[in-house]
Amino acid sequence: MIEEIKSHIAEVENFEADNLDAVEEFRIKYLGKKGILNNFFASFKKIPKEDKKEFGQMINKLKTKAQDKIDSLKTAIEEQKEEEGIYGDLSRPGQKIGIGARHPITIVKNQIIEVFSNIGFNVSEGPEIEDDWHNFSALNLPEYHPARDMQDTFFVQTDPEKYLLRTHTSGVQIRYMQENKPPIRTISPGRVYRNEDISARSHCLFHQVEGLYVDKNVSFADLKQTLLYFTEQLFGKSEIRLRPSYFPFTEPSAEVDIYWGLETEADHRITKGTGWLEIMGCGMVDPNVLENCDIDPEEFSGFAFGMGIERIAMLLYQIDDIRMFYENDLRFLKQFKSVI
Ligand code: DAH
Repeated sequence: MIEEIKSHIAEVENFEADNLDAVEEFRIKYLGKKGILNNFFASFKKIPKEDKKEFGQMINKLKTKAQDKIDSLKTAIEEQKEEEGIYGDLSRPGQKIGIGARHPITIVKNQIIEVFSNIGFNVSEGPEIEDDWHNFSALNLPEYHPARDMQDTFFVQTDPEKYLLRTHTSGVQIRYMQENKPPIRTISPGRVYRNEDISARSHCLFHQVEGLYVDKNVSFADLKQTLLYFTEQLFGKSEIRLRPSYFPFTEPSAEVDIYWGLETEADHRITKGTGWLEIMGCGMVDPNVLENCDIDPEEFSGFAFGMGIERIAMLLYQIDDIRMFYENDLRFLKQFKSVI
């Protein structure tokens, strides 16, 4: 009888099942009313007194083993089912993962960076919350200078020190020249803020790229050549003109127009019938600005330029409302796919 129980214990230990029906069948076989265990319990009376102890221990062992086996198989089968619920059929074809698209402003910014990095410009950045000195005074715009009105400013703090949301990226020039000495070739992309009414043409926040080149004997011809290279690379247009203008931080200063053409109705509309389009401001760095950064204007000269990324993106993609860039409408954003 003991041997019989032992062989049942071995059978229980080796039993495997991958579905609940098989487990239930096994349970009935061992623990059911007419099951093996009850039969052994019934025969307990017939066992000689001296064997009763061992026999009792053995059938209890069989009972526990059977119960444990049932419990562990049930749990394993349930877990397996749960996993299938999460992962489903592992052999089915995968689901497509939607790939995002870069924001058009980022795409154009990267294109501008690429064009300038090919001719040795690096990328520098400055803080969006700027102090008055870097944003204005050091750029030859002292406190009561009327040109400050060209850039309506959001002030963050006015007393004791003035802090503001930078109105342009030109302040990064100052920071860069304080940290680095010539030769300098850097472009500084970034977000800028102006207290302006939001419309199709202007926004209270937008992006600029500032450029700065300082070395010995840098001339206006170098500036013009650099701009020509840039417009050829970015727009594929090789006709530019420089209109005299005024910026406090450059002398002389100019605005750069490119010849866009008058081939289509849209060309007429965006160039107001002239064929020419303004794309940026530029000039030779004012000697006062160099001096403010401890660079000797007798020894070094330089040029600078600044452009709005939205404006360039609007031209490249023929977008006529600047607000589209900030609404984050996926139907708009999904149209811009780019490798850059
Ligand atoms: N900071 C000017 C603006 O925001 C743009 C600009 C013009 C930058 C001429 C320059 C420059 O570096 O030389 O309107």
